[in-house]
Amino acid sequence: MKANELRKKYLDFFKAQGHAVIPSASLIPENDPTVLFTTAGMHPLVPYLLGAKHPAGTRLTDVQKCVRTGDIDEVGDASHLTFFEMLGNWSLGDYFKKEAITWSYTFLTKELGIPVEKLAVSVFAGDEDCPRDDESADIWAECGIPRDRIFFLPKKNNWWGPAGITGPCGPDTEMFIDNGKDPCGPDCSPACDCGKYLEIWNDVFMQYNKNQEGKFEPLAQRNVDTGMGLERTICILQGKKSVYETDIFMPAINLLESLSGKSYTESEEVTKAMRIVADHVRTSVFILGDDRGVTPSNVDQGYVLRRLIRRAVRFGMKLGLPDTAMASLAKLYIEQYRDVYDELARNEEKVLKELKLEEERFSRTLEQGLKEFEKVSFFIQKAGGNAINGKTAFRLYDTFGFPVEITTELAAERGMTVDIDAYKKAFAEHQQKSQAGAEQKFKGGLADHSEQTAKLHTATHLLHAALRKVLGEEVAQRGSNITAERLRFDFSFSRPMTKEEIAEVEKLVNEAIARKIDVVCEESTVEKAKSEGAIGLFESKYGDVVKVYTIGDVSKEICGGPHANNTGDLVSFKITKEQSSSSGVRRIKAIISE
Ligand code: ALA
Repeated sequence: MKANELRKKYLDFFKAQGHAVIPSASLIPENDPTVLFTTAGMHPLVPYLLGAKHPAGTRLTDVQKCVRTGDIDEVGDASHLTFFEMLGNWSLGDYFKKEAITWSYTFLTKELGIPVEKLAVSVFAGDEDCPRDDESADIWAECGIPRDRIFFLPKKNNWWGPAGITGPCGPDTEMFIDNGKDPCGPDCSPACDCGKYLEIWNDVFMQYNKNQEGKFEPLAQRNVDTGMGLERTICILQGKKSVYETDIFMPAINLLESLSGKSYTESEEVTKAMRIVADHVRTSVFILGDDRGVTPSNVDQGYVLRRLIRRAVRFGMKLGLPDTAMASLAKLYIEQYRDVYDELARNEEKVLKELKLEEERFSRTLEQGLKEFEKVSFFIQKAGGNAINGKTAFRLYDTFGFPVEITTELAAERGMTVDIDAYKKAFAEHQQKSQAGAEQKFKGGLADHSEQTAKLHTATHLLHAALRKVLGEEVAQRGSNITAERLRFDFSFSRPMTKEEIAEVEKLVNEAIARKIDVVCEESTVEKAKSEGAIGLFESKYGDVVKVYTIGDVSKEICGGPHANNTGDLVSFKITKEQSSSSGVRRIKAIISE
């Protein structure tokens, strides 16, 4: 069965059971600030699982675009993907276990034609949060699954969610294909990862909400949330060893073969590199091609996208792909998916442009990294050493996007080594910090990338510049906080502002808005930006390569963005409050027109 047929069969089947077919939601979550991407079909439905009324009714089905990048470094093996499609059906306080399980059984055996002898299922074994799920086990048995193929497993295996930190969750029942092999004898179960049991579908009985304190509160309504990974299921149905060998990826692999002149199977290295390029470019196309899509940057979703593109480019280099390869591959995917996700064709130009820009930025960064590497290795060897320590290897990676594998290769050429363990340690420490940072940030509600916040960000730069003009260069930024409604700006200044000064600052900002000046973003180094008079925080956390936002002759600041494209987008600016923040620091709150 081909991927297109599976999508259709699934939706048709659930439509026939009274489900409304709804479109895939955006990959960028609107309702859940605790994660960067939509990671499951239930994700966009969270408000409805919590009790809000869905306009399409209480029975829904769809194919949802999902991105999970936790395993990005595993991509390249037979099964890991960063983007996948999830087929799902939902009951919002409507049907429950009996219908959900019976339909799952019918779909697997009748529609997909999987022999019942090949199926196995698991159900929740019970614990202090929720009792043992004998009810589901009995329903499976009535359907015809032998009791010795119904496994009771603990929370680790048979509990799903929440998708983020809080939210709806519950015990689940999972369905597996038994591939007939028996590497670990009679005690094997779906909890084992020997490869005998291949998970194909998951029915979650969402009866709980995990709250901020980590407690499971019963939900007002009992829901069903199911998820079947399209790629994985197709792989099983087509009897392939790897998802990359199914009709979903073969066109991409064939293209990579012809562009590189290499064969997919010629060596493990080539196989892995082709899989990485095929996966990462597909995911990048979907992130860029989303109607709420982001572009590469150093924060949040933009950073994930940057990593994906850069990793694809790097493995593309190993394959010897030509410069045009990313664009050819992106076009292939847009063609392949345009009938299912029409936003891809609509956003084609942007997808191709951003991919190219990021590729170019990366090749510049690689050059800088190379220079830095030469410098570092020269000094180490001069001092009689021959090992690049973990912190340096990490800095080359973090600041210059310089992959540790390349550092290692270059080091070897000079008879040097890299302390990989120390590098991994530095990497893990950084991840922990940024994870903590991201969580803090999401709690503060700053994960909002709406246009309005981008505009308020630009307003903040104009305000900063105007304050320095009116009050003098004593003014320096001490803090900034933006919500969808207003900006808040803390700055060093030792006395309250006068009415006239406030009016003058407002006037200057509004003049800049009226001039409709383009906001220009460039990458630079701290030294260069400083020498050109850029203001902003110059602390080391910025690393050496920084983004500089220039607003005509009005403002130049080192900053991560995002910003409005033109000051005219702000329409008008007003200071709503000027007060003391702490000793020697004033605070301004201001708004722009909606
Ligand atoms: N939300 C469930 C999953 O992702 C169905 O497996």
